[in-house]
Amino acid sequence: MITLQSRLERARERLAGHGQEHVLRHAEGLDPVRLDRLLDQVDALSLEQVGTLAAALHDDGGFVLPADLAPATIVRRSPDDAAWTAHGEALLRAGKVACFMVAGGQGTRLGWDAPKGTFPATPILRAPLFRVFAEQIHAARRRYGAMIRWYIMTSPMNDAPTRAFFAEHGHFGLGADTVMFFPQGTLPSLTMDGKLLLAEPDEIAVNPDGHGGSLRALRHAGALDDMRAHGIEHISYFQVDNPLVHAVDPRFIGVHAAHPGSSGEMTSKMVAKRDAAEKVGVFCASAGRTMVVEYSDLPASLAAERDGAGRLRFDAGSIAIHMLSRAFVERLTDHGLALPLHKARKKVPFIGDDGRRVEPATPNAIKMETFVFDAIPMAQSSLVVETDRAEEFAPIKNADGDDSPATSMAAQSARAARWLEAAGWSIPRTVDGAPDCTIELSPLSASCEAECTGLAPRAVERGAACAVHPLSPG
Ligand code: UD1
Repeated sequence: MITLQSRLERARERLAGHGQEHVLRHAEGLDPVRLDRLLDQVDALSLEQVGTLAAALHDDGGFVLPADLAPATIVRRSPDDAAWTAHGEALLRAGKVACFMVAGGQGTRLGWDAPKGTFPATPILRAPLFRVFAEQIHAARRRYGAMIRWYIMTSPMNDAPTRAFFAEHGHFGLGADTVMFFPQGTLPSLTMDGKLLLAEPDEIAVNPDGHGGSLRALRHAGALDDMRAHGIEHISYFQVDNPLVHAVDPRFIGVHAAHPGSSGEMTSKMVAKRDAAEKVGVFCASAGRTMVVEYSDLPASLAAERDGAGRLRFDAGSIAIHMLSRAFVERLTDHGLALPLHKARKKVPFIGDDGRRVEPATPNAIKMETFVFDAIPMAQSSLVVETDRAEEFAPIKNADGDDSPATSMAAQSARAARWLEAAGWSIPRTVDGAPDCTIELSPLSASCEAECTGLAPRAVERGAACAVHPLSPG
């Protein structure tokens, strides 16, 4: 039998070979359970990978702006949309589409300790984000008369509370066996000189490996196998932070699957940038491939260029909504997937030499992540579909200011007002045209403008809070 002591010695030797033996500095003082946990973590660590990460710390990211950089091909709204929508609807009715939400982020900017999806997001009923998406999926299942499974990527840090929240809410009536949770992978956080850090005396500091980790996680968790077993061919990918997302969008699905310019592998949505300086990634093209160039990598002169119509030439802002084919994710992850590493300097609390916890005042470590949009150039040909910001993008990222609960709730209310007005409702408006009332429209009552015609029109009073939900009065 291998004793803890001999495991400890072996681990010490392995770590010493890579200059990382300091992580066992407090091991002697640990009780057997905690020592066992630390040794498990060391055993699971690829020190070769840590070495590669450490070596990558000091390269400059290596992004070189391609000389042939051009705007990506954008699929604008057109009379062809009806055909794409019909195609997408047929795929939905045939049960070939699933939803996939990435919810592994740490939500530090919002200052919400629980999983972000539990955040009360809607303007009147304060429904949590998870419920908003669940109701959309419910509505879509009903509309297309087919199963739409929901895959949810968590992180090791928020997996248990996420599952518990769904269980507590009866999986929002979706059926526990139709919702699959799985945690993403992690990468060790490293000091500026490539050393591992201890988050606790018995725990090495790691961080989620970014939403790019979702592709590997889909494979490792068996989600791709589950999809294959259920005949799912297309994956509707969205983030946990955007309650306006159309989680199931037949036009988008149709363009992805059937447009002659699409290889049917990965398709993305864009909204026109607010202005040249807006901090969003921009869809571009180079050497016949679509790619996202991060705002920090796009020179200001290019960002400000305008076309003949006066529109920003590089106006296609990324809103992190994609369609992926199952076959594409299978191909990418068949032999291990190496997406580029993105580095960020962060303050990572750690256990110091004296065994005390240190809360650094300035960034002391590098967290590395991969991004899902770096898979776009790996597709044969990938299209970018235009949508309206007011219709589909109002994320909750910050506690206040831009992209906050307040701005998102206002956008949710404004969209509901627009849809209902188009269906004959009377909506009071302020002089600047904003709704002079608050409206909440549950996807269970109507999940798009067209479905609002099924609701009996009403006159909403000035200043009123009007929740349209099958379970709510009034
Ligand atoms: C992201 C995009 C940005 C886009 C914006 C739209 C990046 C680098 N930037 O910005 O181009 O304009 O969204 O809203 O992605 N997540 C995980 N695991 C992780 C990290 C993140 O699941 O390890 C999930 C989060 O739960 C969230 C989403 O990915 O659902 C976005 O993460 P976040 O770090 O907040 O991205 P942003 O910087 O806001």
